[in-house]
Amino acid sequence: MAGDSLLVKDSRTGKEITLPIIQGTDGPPVVDIAQISKQLGLFTIDPGFRSTASCQSKITFIDGDKGVLLYRGYPIDQLAEKSNFLEVCYLLARGELPNREQFLEYERIVTDHTMVHEQLLNSFKGYRRDAHPMAIMVGVVGALSAFYHDSLDIHNPRHREISEFRLIAKIPTIAAASYKYSIGQPFIYPKNELSYTENFLRMLFKVPTEKFEMSPVLIKAMDQIFILHADHEQNASTSTVRLAGSSQANPFAAISAGIGALWGPAHGGANEAVLKMLNEIGDVSHVPEYIKRAKDPNDPFRLMGFGHRVYKNYDPRATVLKQACHDVLNELGQQNSPLFKLALELERIATEDEYFVEKKLYPNVDFYSGIIQSAIGIPENMFTVIFSVARTVGWITQWSEMISGGEAIGRPRQLYTGAPRRDYVSIENRS
Ligand code: ACO
Repeated sequence: MAGDSLLVKDSRTGKEITLPIIQGTDGPPVVDIAQISKQLGLFTIDPGFRSTASCQSKITFIDGDKGVLLYRGYPIDQLAEKSNFLEVCYLLARGELPNREQFLEYERIVTDHTMVHEQLLNSFKGYRRDAHPMAIMVGVVGALSAFYHDSLDIHNPRHREISEFRLIAKIPTIAAASYKYSIGQPFIYPKNELSYTENFLRMLFKVPTEKFEMSPVLIKAMDQIFILHADHEQNASTSTVRLAGSSQANPFAAISAGIGALWGPAHGGANEAVLKMLNEIGDVSHVPEYIKRAKDPNDPFRLMGFGHRVYKNYDPRATVLKQACHDVLNELGQQNSPLFKLALELERIATEDEYFVEKKLYPNVDFYSGIIQSAIGIPENMFTVIFSVARTVGWITQWSEMISGGEAIGRPRQLYTGAPRRDYVSIENRS
């Protein structure tokens, strides 16, 4: 029995073709357009991939209209409340939640690989002292391929698994070192008796002369930030990882490309931009002026932390982080922090204002994550680095799914609008 299909007619020639409509587990069905170029000699165009699925995937599902996010079928709010980041890593990478033994084994392997090669740490010294930690991340993560070339056969599942473990285990160590280097403090080596997230926070904040202590409330909030950022289907950085990896580049190189894509303020750099914006607004009394600017089509100012390409409803990750933000500020006695009050007022006005309501611009995950991280003591230029630590599991899982599925190299086409063919004119004959 034939399934659903879409009839396409080329009005120039009258030729018709039938394209299959494919239904996934959930979400809108997609039209398989692969035959269009073969049968009609046409390409399709969709700048920014607004209506184009770039792949099939079993990892993450988003319903942007309903504000739903599922990892391997599990709702993000349940995972953020009940799970922990390493268990979520297992779930994303393996497809199922682990039993106790499987989890302990997974935790042991990740923990055993937290150190990086000493020469990799030496390579940090090649960067300027004032380098942005993301600049260091792009370089150092790519450089992992120079250190771990014993397992770079991307067609070997065991090699892919080793790279997955190495990346998940070492990325917090590299991220913390990029920060320590930028502030001139000694690198702190991992301490394997700690949990993944506490270990990361210790490597970030400990100095050799002082004891490291941190409230479990803050560690839990950071773990939740990691969980909420672990994957988000085919976003710009993940699509970059898939595209770079589709050329059969090694996973470290592909993920380094993803880190570069994440850096931009329209993607992972947004929480840094939120904090900058809140500091610029400065006081609750200035909020109406900035709301007015955000609505002015002639003013490039946008309300950072609002709006999302996919969510046209409240970002479910923002709901979790709003609560985490309250918990962290209460724990630190900063519930009256001017920054948080300003953020709440901005959210209140923006969610009531006709412009934002009509365009479905709700607070996104970045809106609160910057305030939480700032309260924990993390500087703004580390926010995107922390995002990249969390997203590494998503990147490597999506990469592995693509490679094991045997996907062909990604090679988009274009609609050429430049000069038609013309002959070369020597320089003396040009006007
Ligand atoms: N403030 C003011 N107006 C906005 C905002 C905003 N934050 N976001 C979108 N709009 C307006 C646009 O100007 C546009 O108006 P128009 O219809 O009059 O032209 C309309 O809303 C639709 O916006 P698009 O740009 O088409 O939305 P798109 O889906 O392409 O962009 C994006 C999404 C890039 C996230 C955008 O909302 C934005 O720049 N937000 C601020 C940056 C931010 O918070 N990024 C984080 C994203 S989440 C993440 O990466 C984890």
